[in-house]
Amino acid sequence: MTPEHHVPTGTDDALLAPPPGCPAHGLGPGGLHRLHETEDLPQLYEELRAEHGPVAPALIHDDVPLWVVLGLAENLQMVSTPARFCRDSRIWTPLRQGRIRPGHPYLPHIAWQPICAHAEGDEHKRLRGAVTGAISTIDHRTLRRHINRHTQRLVNRFCEGGRADLVGQFAEHLPMAVMCELLGMPDEYGDRLVEAARDMLEGTSTAIAGNAYIMDALARLTARRRARPDEDLTSYLLNHPARLTDDEVREHLRVILIAAYETTANLVANVLRMVLTDPGIRARLSGGQTTVPQAVEQSLWDEPPFSTVFAYFAKQDTELGGKLIRKGDGLLFGIAPGNVDPRVRPDLSADMMGNRSHLAFGGGPHECPGQDIGRAIAGTGVDALLMRLPDIRLDCAEDELRRRSSIVSRHLVELPVWFEPRPQRDIRERPPHATIPPRPARYADFEKPASEPAAARPRPEPVIPSWPRPDPAAPPQPEPARPQGARQRLVRWWRGY
Ligand code: HEM
Repeated sequence: MTPEHHVPTGTDDALLAPPPGCPAHGLGPGGLHRLHETEDLPQLYEELRAEHGPVAPALIHDDVPLWVVLGLAENLQMVSTPARFCRDSRIWTPLRQGRIRPGHPYLPHIAWQPICAHAEGDEHKRLRGAVTGAISTIDHRTLRRHINRHTQRLVNRFCEGGRADLVGQFAEHLPMAVMCELLGMPDEYGDRLVEAARDMLEGTSTAIAGNAYIMDALARLTARRRARPDEDLTSYLLNHPARLTDDEVREHLRVILIAAYETTANLVANVLRMVLTDPGIRARLSGGQTTVPQAVEQSLWDEPPFSTVFAYFAKQDTELGGKLIRKGDGLLFGIAPGNVDPRVRPDLSADMMGNRSHLAFGGGPHECPGQDIGRAIAGTGVDALLMRLPDIRLDCAEDELRRRSSIVSRHLVELPVWFEPRPQRDIRERPPHATIPPRPARYADFEKPASEPAAARPRPEPVIPSWPRPDPAAPPQPEPARPQGARQRLVRWWRGY
């Protein structure tokens, strides 16, 4: 960010900090707001929008400055102009100046790695091409069958009791179970894998052990498929013409597994909450005026699984939303504030169902390549759960639902429900709606290969019939930008961006 705002001050200086409750609390040098000290981020974003317009200056931990991009159009402009903005944190001025201490909480999000989420240009095309090529081989009927089967299996675990927590017993399990099937490790899926993932994202004391557990599973999977390819995403990734090394494959399996688990679990929980707390939507779903995939789209507008992406970086002095952005400035990709931009949504209560022009999956060269898988898991999974338990009700007052928030995301902690106890179902049985040919129109969108940016969507790479070995002379992998402690390396490894 343009340095004139900034007077370096440590947040450790407790004597200078205003007492809690004081109106100056949450303000740093230059009167800039500290995003991490704010309890109500959506409210702060609106104050910033009113004061500064679509791009506003702010601070994160240690009073590190960055721009918050609040406008929908400005966010799209930023992510879609790789000549001006990129995801390569090595050009970030505070990092280059040594102002990001090794323990900085946001280092795991920005520390550069040789993965598609941080790469640019030809290297990005190579890595992302392998990921999108592998994803394009997924058969969507098979995918829906996995989603339905795992939904039935998960519901079987709690249907006889008449009560459940849909976050811990459903939303966190369904994406992991489906992704394990797609990656080719259905036998590895289990409560332990979900626990390991949860530990890691929450940074609990067992995070290191959880990391080792998942790393080991992915390493064994890569070795197994290198020796004997099968019809799964891992084998396609290993044998893609881009010739990823085993290390690159493991890293991208991790990016895929985590990107899919964290976001999709959040989306499933949010859609279920919306259905359980909004009687209007519930009635429209029951009456057939709305479909679950449309409700998913509404949720992606109102509660995007990632509230922001940390971060994009300016490659040159440039202008965005009327602000002068200096080369090396960091910018927060504001998904949640962009989705409520009053220039696009003057009335937030207006129905956005079915409208896909939100920012939840990003845009431009890094737009999420797995978005249709995320949509399918949430849409098909919630639909199947509601069919199985049509009388399901929230088991607490809506305002008792707790959320865990950070600048990057906002998670429901629990979603307690009750329903009439029911016997388990044979999971080999196909759910009634899955047997009706042709498939319901509400899933028609899912057939479109929408995993590339809308403007110039390249064709997916062809499926390769043979299994060439990788180039043994593959170039060595670059080192991460800064040395880190075990905990940071772990979180960085886990999040992958
Ligand atoms: C509801 C579910 C999901 C949401 C909301 C979501 C959201 C996102 C967002 C916001 C980005 C960053 C875009 C940017 O930097 O501009 C991203 C990137 C990515 N996502 Fe997703 N995602 C979801 C599901 C998935 C799934 C299921 C997969 C894999 C099967 C996946 C794989 C990826 C990958 C590989 C990237 C990096 C792409 C690149 O940098 O070129 N995501 N996702």
